[in-house]
Amino acid sequence: MLCQLGQDLAAKYLGCDPVCAHTVLNREEFLRCTSDLQKQFTNHPDAERHFTEALLQTGVDPTRTAIENWFPLRVRPPGKTLIERNTAGVGIHRDLWYACPRGQNNWWAPIFPFDSSGGLTLYPEYWSKPVPNTSAGWSISEFRKQRANATATGASFDDLTEISPRPAALESLPHAMPIDIVMEPGDILCFSAAHLHASRINTGERIRFSTEIRTINLDDLISRAGPPNLDTKSSGNTVGDFKMVYDGAPLLDKIEGKNLDWRNGDDRE
Ligand SMILES: [Fe+2]
Repeated sequence: MLCQLGQDLAAKYLGCDPVCAHTVLNREEFLRCTSDLQKQFTNHPDAERHFTEALLQTGVDPTRTAIENWFPLRVRPPGKTLIERNTAGVGIHRDLWYACPRGQNNWWAPIFPFDSSGGLTLYPEYWSKPVPNTSAGWSISEFRKQRANATATGASFDDLTEISPRPAALESLPHAMPIDIVMEPGDILCFSAAHLHASRINTGERIRFSTEIRTINLDDLISRAGPPNLDTKSSGNTVGDFKMVYDGAPLLDKIEGKNLDWRNGDDRE
C-alpha cells in the first residue's frame, strides 16, 4: 500500500517512468517536481499510516512505541549533477551523532526497487568500533535556534549548513567493508541508530526513492536500554520530536516527571 501510493504520486509529479525522470526533465523542472512530490508524499494522510501499519505487522507494540514527527521521501538521482538540498545524500554517520535517543531504531522502505548501486550503505563492522567525528561541537537546540533564525531572515538551507554543519566522520574509512543495500517494494530494513551508515552517490542509472521512519520503545527509554555510546559527544536530544503510535500523544507526556537520561548517560542540556 505504501509503495503503491508512493509510486502513484511519483508518476503524477515526475511522469510515467519516475525512476528515469532525470533523463527527461531539465534540472529546474526535475528539482521543482521532486520538491512538489516530496511535500505531497510527506503530507499525504495515508502515507505515514501505511508505514505505521507495516511496522505493526513486524510486531511493534503501538501502545509502547513512539515515532518521530518527520516522515521524508528520499529522492536520490544518479550522479552529482542534480544534487540539491532535497536530493542530497548524507555522508558516513551514526544517527546518535545527531542527538537521537540511544535506543532509536530506523526503518527504511523503498518505493521502487533499487540495487547495490543505489547508495544506501551500512558499515556493521563499526558497531563496536568508535569513529572519530565532529559531534562534540554540535547541539540540537543550538541547531534549531539557528534554523529558526535562518528561516526568519530568509537564509537558505545551504547557509545554515555552513553555519551549523551536521556531525560527520573525520575519516573517510577507505578500508571499511560496506554492505550496499538492495531492496524491493514491500521490504523494510530495520537497524539501530547506533549503526554506522550513509546515503552515498547513486552510481546506477535509476533514481532511488525511499522513505523512512524512526521509532523509540517507551520501555527502552525508561530503562535506558540500547547500545553503548562509543563516540557520540553531541548535546541535547530529540525525544520531544516523537509521538505515540496509538494516539499521537507526545512521547514527552508519557515520561513527564521522570528524570531520564535519554541518550548517553550525559545529558548536557
Ligand atoms: Fe542516518
